[in-house]
Amino acid sequence: MTAISFEDCLRQRRSVRGYLPTPIPEATLNAVFELAQWAPSNCNVQPWQVYVASGATRDKLRQGFLDGVASGRAMTPDIGFMPSLTGTHRDRQVECAQALYGAMGIERGDRMGRMQATLRNFELFDAPHVCFIGMDKSFGIPMALDVGMYAQTLMLAMTAHGISSCAQGSMGYYPTDVREAFGISEDIAILFGISFGYEDPAIAANNARTVRAPLAENVQFKD
Ligand SMILES: Cc1cc2nc3c(=O)[nH]c(=O)nc-3n(C[C@H](O)[C@H](O)[C@H](O)COP(=O)(O)O)c2cc1C
Repeated sequence: MTAISFEDCLRQRRSVRGYLPTPIPEATLNAVFELAQWAPSNCNVQPWQVYVASGATRDKLRQGFLDGVASGRAMTPDIGFMPSLTGTHRDRQVECAQALYGAMGIERGDRMGRMQATLRNFELFDAPHVCFIGMDKSFGIPMALDVGMYAQTLMLAMTAHGISSCAQGSMGYYPTDVREAFGISEDIAILFGISFGYEDPAIAANNARTVRAPLAENVQFKD
């Protein structure tokens, strides 16, 4: 691992949506997931259950997702879909989509282009690895907080090791496939996934950049 400051690590992490086929060496994979175990959790319960698909498992899942989308198989996320947004949140969502479509050269109103861009999720953006992150179905928001902290810890650990990633809510849309692939009990909800690997800089989508709101929109300081 090359030394990288914490600030650089935070600022360098971004969602990468196009990967080289090169797999990550097993020792690096272990080092990254070992680091992420240091995420905090309420009472140190560590509720995250993580399933890393590579090689044939990754190929089979990817094909299953693509067949599912092509045949219109119902998507049944354990935690439901993202709610529709309004106001500032909707504006930010639109801005984020515009950054991606703009980088990909997809014109406003090009519905087919947008659909193809969405489909890239189920192709795992060609990443050689994808991990699925779950927790017990009986746990609610209090435990989901821990899982969210784990996910960012994991992605930063990846960045520090030169590995790119993209968190994907869409990886929770076919949870049955994931449970079947890993022999996971019905008691575990698959919340989302993270595709990861080495960035392919030739992919246009990787030129997309998001911005952040000014501090005052999210944070209040008061003496
Ligand atoms: C929980 C979560 C789910 C996400 N789901 C998707 C997804 O399904 N597809 C996708 O392309 N990006 C997804 N993203 C990536 C966000 O769009 C991205 O983090 C956001 O636009 C900020 O950009 P950045 O990650 O490059 O900083 C997701 C991010 C998070 C945290």
